[in-house]
Amino acid sequence: MNKITIAIDGFSSTGKSTVAKQLAKHFGYAYIDTGAMYRAVTWYAMENGLINENAFKVEALIHQLPNINISFKFNEALGFAEVHLNGVHIEKDIRTLKVSSFVSKIAAISQVRHKLVEQQQSMGKGKGVVMDGRDIGTVVFPDAELKLFMTASAETRAIRRYEELIGRGENVIYKDVLKNVQERDHIDTTRKDSPLKKAKGAIEIDNSNLSLEEQFDKILQLAKMAIAGIE
Ligand code: DC
Repeated sequence: MNKITIAIDGFSSTGKSTVAKQLAKHFGYAYIDTGAMYRAVTWYAMENGLINENAFKVEALIHQLPNINISFKFNEALGFAEVHLNGVHIEKDIRTLKVSSFVSKIAAISQVRHKLVEQQQSMGKGKGVVMDGRDIGTVVFPDAELKLFMTASAETRAIRRYEELIGRGENVIYKDVLKNVQERDHIDTTRKDSPLKKAKGAIEIDNSNLSLEEQFDKILQLAKMAIAGIE
């Protein structure tokens, strides 16, 4: 069967990674979480004192970009690839509210985007890939055979993220999670370099009132149609 590229963009906590993993598993495609790559750079910046509540050393981070090596290693038990920074597994470290509070600032730096976009294009050049992020259908793979744009209300997304963080044992309050979701929406959609927007030809999926099963059924049909379209 011919392979396609599936590009999934959308706001934070719209369930992009859930559906991306389901599609990758169904078709035997690779799943690439590009948000994890921006989070990995953020983690590097935090660990090296380049970003905190009081400081943001953009030039130093740009200078150190060649030292940042991001890779994915497939985890058999989980069924998807996990992110590593310079060979160290950091999948859990990058999912905290603290990393979320800095990541949009890091993702607004053009030099960071340039480095990560190049790597993403190289990882997806053989097709048979499901990639999720904010600029996949607009910048990374504008010719993807299937482009999706996921949305849901900020409140719905904040509840999902809050439950996820609490489930992982983080001590957070809903108000802070909602604030972070709204702040990231603002920075991600208004930044100069490749702001989050619906790509040309993308299909919008508002999943505020869709169950996971309904959503997957709907998207699976779209993917099958896109595959049939190239055969
Ligand atoms: O999907 P996520 O919440 O893990 O993404 C973290 C941040 O990274 C998000 O706030 C915006 C940024 N991002 C981006 O700018 N471009 C991408 N392709 C993926 C993520």
